[in-house]
Amino acid sequence: MGLKQEIQKRKTFAIVSHPDAGKTTLTEKFLLFGGAIQVAGAVKSNKIKKTATSDFMEIEKQRGISVATSVMGFEYRDFKVNILDTPGHQDFAEDTFRTLTAADSAIVVIDAAKGVEPQTKKLVEVLRMRDTPIIVFVNKLDRPGKDPFDLMDEIEETLDIKVRPLSWPIGMGNDFKGVYDIYSQKLKLFSPHEKATEENSLVFDNLDHPDLQEGIPEPIQTLKDDLELVEGVYPEFKHEDYQNADITPVFFGSALNNFGVHEILDCFLDIAPNPMGSTAEERQVKPEEEKFTGFVFKIHANLDPNHRDRIAFVRVNSGIFQRNKFYHHTRLNKQIRFSSPTAFMASKKSVIDEAYPGDIVGLHDTGTFKIGDTLTEGEQIHFKGMPSFSPELFKYIENADPMKSKQLHKGIDQLMDEGVAQLFTGKESGRKIIGTVGQLQFEVIEYRLLHEYGAKCRYDNINLYKTCWITSDNQEKLEEFKERKSRNMAIDKHGRDVFLAESPFALQMAQEKFPEIEFHFTSEF
Ligand code: G4P
Repeated sequence: MGLKQEIQKRKTFAIVSHPDAGKTTLTEKFLLFGGAIQVAGAVKSNKIKKTATSDFMEIEKQRGISVATSVMGFEYRDFKVNILDTPGHQDFAEDTFRTLTAADSAIVVIDAAKGVEPQTKKLVEVLRMRDTPIIVFVNKLDRPGKDPFDLMDEIEETLDIKVRPLSWPIGMGNDFKGVYDIYSQKLKLFSPHEKATEENSLVFDNLDHPDLQEGIPEPIQTLKDDLELVEGVYPEFKHEDYQNADITPVFFGSALNNFGVHEILDCFLDIAPNPMGSTAEERQVKPEEEKFTGFVFKIHANLDPNHRDRIAFVRVNSGIFQRNKFYHHTRLNKQIRFSSPTAFMASKKSVIDEAYPGDIVGLHDTGTFKIGDTLTEGEQIHFKGMPSFSPELFKYIENADPMKSKQLHKGIDQLMDEGVAQLFTGKESGRKIIGTVGQLQFEVIEYRLLHEYGAKCRYDNINLYKTCWITSDNQEKLEEFKERKSRNMAIDKHGRDVFLAESPFALQMAQEKFPEIEFHFTSEF
């Protein structure tokens, strides 16, 4: 099969949700359809459960589980599907954001009773920044939930997206009778008195079928009225609107009961984009280009603290990646080859000889990679689109063991390369500030510095509200700002200027007083 056909076969998407909405259950059902797993329960939940904060081994164990399930591939209907799972735990949000950059589209799972939850909102914001096409799955219809029209309004308002239902439920909870698949115009009913499954459900092509009219006339009439309203209220579904991320198709179902899952998967395979072009700083790279290019979007440390090796997750952007072939590491300007690259099928890892655009390859890494690194066949290009977000929590990090200062610096450097947190260095004080999106990360850093690098750290509190990257077309004004605010200036790990705002008020004042300065809250500007 040629490169073009391999690209046509591939669908690489991220699955995201607030914890407990049903992401793991839905993923598992997809894998079951693909025959990648045989029994339910084979995929371990990727969520880091709330543990006692001192129980680090538990965190480590769960971190390990999330490596195994963070990329899962399966084959279904002639397609090779790659699912990128994203940890739902909010303390790992930065890691999740980065994973989204390796996906061509996304499925967002929402709990019908809870509606749009905070973590979903944040993730969708990132997806929208990148114009990633989204499909929404409203889950847990077997339980009482919000009215579907209200849910549509809530999704549109809180996520700031335009929706177009492509399926519609009949009832919910105890009254849940089934789902009408608007996309393929079929009604699937649950058999009454039995636990609903895909196998025992009845399918109708025609809503006027006599069995329906005799069996459940009222719910069918309600469905017909609802469908009329749906057609009247929401725009017509157009493939290009979805692919341009202008419209978000919505499906309803119950992942646990396997209901509505085939419908969303089949439609997804029909409409979701294949691997698309990627933007490098130097030029646009097309997947069908013969030469291999790829980038590191995630680095995961080994579970065994005695081995400081890691797995770098590389997304293939163009050409064919081959085992044992020398590739060019553009940041280090160095040739490297990989003797045992791995791919992830279901939750199993296996060594592969080749990978194609859209595929994710796991490379054994002994400290060669940083998030965002690019591999090519020699061309000096750098892929864009690995944004860092302004962290939310900050602490000074200090050396607590003067004999181990070298180890501490090495440890901090490597953990930052992995993207565990962000590091800023105060311009005047020279003090190092760690910025994270969750409290847990401070604990993980302290634990890993000690166990993997033999270094001891101590945190000091810092009064800091936000860090923002600053730029200006007016160099003079920029210098003046940096001079005036020198006590509040820092540099990030790439040497870029960062303003440390102590409060929302301080930020607002700075913005008002220096209109020529642009304040950026993500590093992608
Ligand atoms: P997550 O990955 O998004 O965090 O969610 P996960 O799939 O782990 O699902 C969270 C809980 O919701 C699980 O129950 C799961 O069984 C349940 N669930 C998922 N889909 C449905 C559905 O369609 N209907 C209903 N009623 N429940 C659903 P749990 O009790 O937390 O875990 P478990 O003991 O069942 O594994």
